[in-house]
Amino acid sequence: MTEPAARSPVQLETVRLGADYFQDPLASFGRMRAEAPVMPVELPHGDRAWMVTRYPEVRAALADARLHKEWAGKLTSPDWVPDEVTGYLSVHMLNTDPPNHTRLRKLVTKAFTARRVAGLRPRVEAITASLLDAIEARAAVLKDAGGEDAIDLIEAFAFPLPVTVICELLGVPARDRAQFRQWSNAIVASEGEPGSFRAAGAAMYHYFTRLVAAKRTELTEGTGPADDMVSALIEARDSGDSLDERELIAMLFLLLVAGHETTTNLIASGALALLANPAELARLRSDPSLLPGAVEELLRYTSPLNHATDRFTLEPVEIGGVTIPAREWVLCATSSANRDPHRFGDPDRLDVGRDAGGHVAFGHGIHYCLGAPLARLEGEVAFGALFGRFPDLSLAADPATLRWRPSSLIHGLEALPVRIG
Ligand code: HEM
Repeated sequence: MTEPAARSPVQLETVRLGADYFQDPLASFGRMRAEAPVMPVELPHGDRAWMVTRYPEVRAALADARLHKEWAGKLTSPDWVPDEVTGYLSVHMLNTDPPNHTRLRKLVTKAFTARRVAGLRPRVEAITASLLDAIEARAAVLKDAGGEDAIDLIEAFAFPLPVTVICELLGVPARDRAQFRQWSNAIVASEGEPGSFRAAGAAMYHYFTRLVAAKRTELTEGTGPADDMVSALIEARDSGDSLDERELIAMLFLLLVAGHETTTNLIASGALALLANPAELARLRSDPSLLPGAVEELLRYTSPLNHATDRFTLEPVEIGGVTIPAREWVLCATSSANRDPHRFGDPDRLDVGRDAGGHVAFGHGIHYCLGAPLARLEGEVAFGALFGRFPDLSLAADPATLRWRPSSLIHGLEALPVRIG
């Protein structure tokens, strides 16, 4: 049998992803998946890339060393000099290849130990309980006032929980979290003021520079080390190696953005999925032992990221019979792979009892999500406590009218109005 000839870009027509992609990315991915495993796309903000959509190709591409991440110096001209902000914020794990990636990941893994994460459970439970108390109190006030009694579950719960946890873990004062949400939303948004991305990046860079300086002083004056990750990262050593200032700041930036943008959406989109599927919610309520598996299924079904972060080719790379030319961007549509009917039976059905193992919501390969244990812990605590506390929780809006954020990367609701009963 002869191998199918590689399909050149000429044979595949570019798919233009418009605003409807933000509102229903799975519909766009479903059409692309049916056509070819890889398609050239134009993203809503005009950038061009190759989108990998089928499960086997997505999983293989995520672990494919021919797809690079370290763009600085490879996709830029030799005399390119990064500005202060780009130079500082971009030298993190997700923008590096081995051996740099191996080195950075090893150093942060030393600070981000399984013990540190497991030890967080009581704090995650306490933060969750106090947020649910606040929701209950607010609902009572709204009820007494006799007016609109809907509460935005993102504002009241899905956002403050992970951001408080990651701020506490890193040692960032919780009073700064609203500021962080604004910066971080501006950074991952695909639309908006052209200058807002740069302004947010600059603000975060200056913030972290001051924070690191303060922690260094605490460490040298012996008033520390505080039991936080900024201090642990400053002190992390591996065979005499440590993080330099740029790497430290980029690492904090990555942990903070990755640590809440995604988990917020797991909680909010997961709550929506369960409320929209009452039989599955009832099943979960009647058998709490299903909870860990249900979190995996919600990761598969709601996938907080549409696709993994950017990769690029340096030479022509063939994926699934499609040849991607050199110096092109490649996106692995993890949410599409998680709905591939050839991998997951009846993929568009939420089934809290299914074995969702093998989903790629946390990626695959050397860049597999470092925060997966923390995200799973937060998901379990959040869903268990939310649905345990409020037996009459219900949606206060038709799911079809809910708006999704205009980001190519992040799949997250703008707001999720609910009533607690
Ligand atoms: C539901 C929540 C989360 C989801 C769906 C998620 C998803 C992902 C994915 C898909 C990747 C790989 C990206 C790629 O290969 O391009 C990744 C990497 C990463 N994530 Fe997460 N993440 C979540 C939560 C977190 C949390 C809570 C943290 C930190 C506290 C975190 C930190 C990271 C880091 C540092 C990397 C880069 C790892 C590397 O390059 O080696 N993530 N995440």
